[in-house]
Amino acid sequence: MEIDRPEHNLGLTPAQIVEELDRYIVGQNQAKRLVALALRSQARRQQVEEGLRNEITPKNIIMIGPTGCGKTEIARRLARLVKAPFIKVEATKYTEVGYVGRDVESMIRDLTETAIKMVRDEWTDGVLPAARSRVEERLLDLLLPPPPGVNRQIAALPDGSEDVTFIEASSSAYASESEEEQQRRQDSAKRYIRTREKFKKMLKTGQLEDRQVEFSVSQPSAMISAIPMGPNMPGMDEMGMNFSEMLQNMLPTQQKEVKMSVGDAREVLLDEEIEKLLDMDKITREAVRRVEEQGIIFIDELDKIAAREGKGGSGPDVSREGVQRDILPIIEGSTVFTKHGMIRTDHVLFIAAGAFHMSKPSDLIPELQGRFPLRVELHSLTEEDFKRILTEPENSLVKQYQAMLGTEDVDLEIGESAIDALAKAASRVNAETENIGARRLHTLLEKVLEEISFNAPTLKGQRQTIDGGYVNDKLKDIIKDQNLSQFVL
Ligand SMILES: Nc1ncnc2c1ncn2[C@@H]1O[C@H](COP(=O)(O)OP(=O)(O)OP(=O)(O)O)[C@@H](O)[C@H]1O
Ligand SMILES: [Mg+2]
Repeated sequence: MEIDRPEHNLGLTPAQIVEELDRYIVGQNQAKRLVALALRSQARRQQVEEGLRNEITPKNIIMIGPTGCGKTEIARRLARLVKAPFIKVEATKYTEVGYVGRDVESMIRDLTETAIKMVRDEWTDGVLPAARSRVEERLLDLLLPPPPGVNRQIAALPDGSEDVTFIEASSSAYASESEEEQQRRQDSAKRYIRTREKFKKMLKTGQLEDRQVEFSVSQPSAMISAIPMGPNMPGMDEMGMNFSEMLQNMLPTQQKEVKMSVGDAREVLLDEEIEKLLDMDKITREAVRRVEEQGIIFIDELDKIAAREGKGGSGPDVSREGVQRDILPIIEGSTVFTKHGMIRTDHVLFIAAGAFHMSKPSDLIPELQGRFPLRVELHSLTEEDFKRILTEPENSLVKQYQAMLGTEDVDLEIGESAIDALAKAASRVNAETENIGARRLHTLLEKVLEEISFNAPTLKGQRQTIDGGYVNDKLKDIIKDQNLSQFVL
């Protein structure tokens, strides 16, 4: 099988990455550019000749910006964009080694799992034609078991699939037969070959889908699924495996006879054939290589583990700093043990994000700060941004509500004056109560559309037009009363 080595293909250019992000995120251009550049550098590094390549460290970034201004959104969109192994984790999820919770090394293990899945999916496409034709032959074997006296001939076709034909076995293999026996065998072989051809056509045209077939499938011991243990059992994390998986490897798999329609069997058998055709060792090696060379980890909520010094240094602060100290070697480059082998983290790219309003990046331990050479600030969103956020992104809130109400056959129209009023209200409430950025738009819009949304089933077939007057009317009582808006919006 040809291994697709993505380093021959740098992937998206920085401009293309920014352009993709622009489809979902309004403004924040500097952050988009920097992230795009870091991603591209990761790809460029792999083109550099080996000696120098190993010297080049990733351009880790911290994105700093107020709540609800798009930091997590950028990460989410990146995840769908990059072809490299990518995971997004929350810094707050981790605890210092020795405490119950996830240890930081698990992020590398999760990244590796992602990479395995990625390579596996890619390679599955490659073996699919062969798997499909093998499933077809297996179904035919089940429907019409071959008698003695026929031989199978397999020819590989250019598209990767296989063509199987049956021919009569040569008579020399049956030398002891009487003439009569020989005649009978040959006749039955001829009949079989003809019928098989006929069945093959019928199978291809879907005429046999409802026929029942019986076959055996291997399934893990029933015991295992009965054991109520998640992958997060304390202590197990460090071993890089989970308990039930361990058991699964120890106990023999059971064979179970099943009976189902050809249509259902096709799916079950396809999984089995794909499994047989894929080379898991090769997949693992490629996945590990991609993690080490191209891996990207987005650490969200980094500010939550930045502790201010001189606040007593007790309680949670201590363990936060502990998490920072645990993360440090991973970012600096170390080796993490996973069930797929040792993973070197030297070239994994880290992009971190945090609001940093309670703490500052300088509250992070100095070694960690040093490992994030690039900083970029996202700015607080303005009324003008809100207008764009409401309408421009491909998944904009307005489009979401329209689609939702569309399912009830209600045609929702939100006029320009309504957008203006919503944007104005959002920045006003953000300024007067707490600035929660674009999240405010969710709460406002929900409030404004509450009535229409509730009554939608009775508005079937109607058009509902909303303008600035409508928006202000729905919001006026709440906005006037600061106390109330703190709770309602
Ligand atoms: N610049 C933006 N363009 C489009 N949508 C945005 C933008 N900023 C925020 N949003 C929307 O607001 C919501 C919250 O944004 P996001 O999750 O990115 O906040 P955040 O910056 O991660 O905040 P926090 O610091 O609280 O985690 C998202 O649903 C997102 O769609
Ligand atoms: Mg966030």
